[in-house]
Order: sequence, then structure tokens, then C-alpha cells
Amino acid sequence: MRYRKLGASDLEVSEIALGSWLTYGSGVGHDRGKACVDQAFASGINLIDTANVYGRGAAESFLGEVLAGRPRASYVLATKLYFPMSATDQGLSRAQIAKQIDASLRRLRVDHVDLYQCHRYDAATPIDETMRALSDVVRQGKARYIGFSEWSPQQIESAFAIAGSVRFVSSQPQYSLLWRNPEKEVFPLCAAKGVSQIVWSPLAQGVLTGKYAPGAKRPADSRASSGSMGYFMGSWLTPAILEAVQQLKPIVREAGCTLAQFALAWVLRQENVASAIVGATRPEQLAENAAASGLAIDPTLFQRAEAIVAPVRRP
Ligand SMILES: NC(=O)c1ccc[n+]([C@@H]2O[C@H](COP(=O)([O-])OP(=O)(O)OC[C@H]3O[C@@H](n4cnc5c(N)ncnc54)[C@H](OP(=O)(O)O)[C@@H]3O)[C@@H](O)[C@H]2O)c1
Repeated sequence: MRYRKLGASDLEVSEIALGSWLTYGSGVGHDRGKACVDQAFASGINLIDTANVYGRGAAESFLGEVLAGRPRASYVLATKLYFPMSATDQGLSRAQIAKQIDASLRRLRVDHVDLYQCHRYDAATPIDETMRALSDVVRQGKARYIGFSEWSPQQIESAFAIAGSVRFVSSQPQYSLLWRNPEKEVFPLCAAKGVSQIVWSPLAQGVLTGKYAPGAKRPADSRASSGSMGYFMGSWLTPAILEAVQQLKPIVREAGCTLAQFALAWVLRQENVASAIVGATRPEQLAENAAASGLAIDPTLFQRAEAIVAPVRRP
């Protein structure tokens, strides 16, 4: 496993990170989830990403339990806040930030997280209130660094304009061969400000593993056939997208790796991307995905793959 520096921080994060959306504490059973976390460590993954809202606290509680026996310095722990935790608890106000960080630390059974991320921008709270409250969290030692997820360039600029605030070091956008939206504006802006990307759904929720053949029955035990985890997948499962993904297979054979590894190596070709956060329902998936780190792939193969998916990617 290779490691990259996270923006203007002193954190070294693994190029492949373990995410916990839909899976741990909810869609995946306890023992299988624990086996995935164990495999992550065995594969050299040190960055673990979660959020208070994943399973409404269940993902953080699961991680708190399975990480409890491990030295705190052996992993980089990232969580988030913003989405509703109850009818009244949501957003990025001073009161919410103070309340949600304490609740997350309690569930995670740690005295600090390494990265505290704003899951979305909160238009209902003045940005200086949010930044001052996040700065207090850092000064209190409850989070080492702060980040944001899916903020627009204007929103990012507005945060950096607050004098005396702790500065963001990470951005968490969706990014994959099938979703290149942040490349144009967010990546260059972040690079200039000492902010790295840790990207989500780099496999388009499993579609970029090639396991969903067009016109075929969805594999049992896949996210697409899961009642609890497949809810957000619909827009990826179009015949045109699935057909284009199948056309990547000869290129991937030339590259000498699996389609999942090729898709992960593709996001990691960007210097501003520090880590690709994968989900996993089985330890074998993590072993396969972790081996994408350090792959040297001929850039012309990437260009051929980009051309194949160009007509179907969104955006
Ligand atoms: N900031 C945000 O708004 C946001 C939003 C979404 C996600 N995230 C973060 O990003 C993480 C990753 O998102 P994601 O789960 O959508 O990522 P993903 O890596 O694109 O998809 C993960 C799913 O693909 C399948 N898969 C993974 N590796 C595979 C392999 N080698 N072979 C076959 N199938 C494989 C597994 O599902 P099955 O085995 O069930 O098919 C796995 O759960 C989340 O856990 C979360 O931490 C953040």
C-alpha cells in the first residue's frame, strides 16, 4: 500500500480507504463487517471513513467496537456531520457542531477524530459561524483537521475567506470514470489551497467492477439486488452504462489487472486525489481493491477507457 499526504496536514493516508456507508452497522452483518475491517488493516489501509448519519449512528458504533482493540495511532479516522440525526438535529450551526462531535466521539470510543467533515454545505447557517465552531472543535483537540464534502467552488472560497479560521485540508466528492464532475473546477481550486480529495464511489457502487452484465440477472449478494443497500444504485444500472463498462474489459486485460483495480488506479492518477474510499461487503473485495495502489498503468489505456465511457458518463 502506498500513502499520500492529505492536503496541508501531517496525515499520511492510504491510497485506498475503507468507507462505511450502507454497509457496516446496517447492510452487512457484524462478523463479515469485522472481517472487512481486519482485511483493511492487513492490506495496509489506514484511512477509515464514516459519518454520524450512516445507519443513524450505527456505522460509528460498529467502528467504535471493532477498532477499540487497535492502537489509536494505527488508523486515520474520518467522520462527518450535516444530515438529519433527528427531526431537530441537522446542519452546521455552532450548537449542532458542538453536539454532533461529542456524539460521534462517544460512538467511536475515541477522544478525537483525525478528520471532521461537513457532509454538505449548510445554506441556513452563516459560513463564519460554521468555520468558527469547527475551529473550536480543532482547538479543543476533538478533531485534528477539517474537511468538506460536495461543496461548490464558491462555497469553498467563502470558507477560506474567514480570517482566523482553521483551514480545510480535504474535500470528499464523488469521482470515478463514470462521474468526472469535480475535475474541472474543484480539483484545481483545492490543489491551490492545500486541500486533497478523498473520493467516494470510485467504483460507481460496484458497477465499475464489471459484475453487472447488461440484460442479465443482477448477481445475488450484490448491492444492486440488496433491498437495504441498492436504493441509490438505479441511475447506474442503465443498459448503455453497463454495455460501456463491458467494453472496458479488453483494455483492462491489456493492463494486466482487474476492472476494479483499473478503475481505482484511474482515480489515483490524479495527484490531487489522496485516497479512493471504497465500500466492501467481503474481505476479498478489499484485498483486490487495495492492490490497485501502486499499479503502473499505461496512460494510453486510461485514455481509451475514457473514450469508451464518455458518451454515458454523468456528468
Ligand atoms: N460524502 C458523501 O456524500 C458520500 C456518499 C457516498 C459514499 N461516501 C463514502 O464513500 C464510501 C464508498 O462509497 P461506495 O460504497 O459507493 O463505493 P464503491 O467502492 O464505489 O462501491 C462499493 C460497493 O461495490 C462492491 N464492490 C467493491 N469492491 C468490489 C470488488 N472488488 N468486486 C466486486 N464488487 C465490489 C461492494 O458491494 P456489493 O458486494 O454489495 O455489490 C461494495 O460495497 C462510502 O462507504 C462512504 O464512506 C461518501
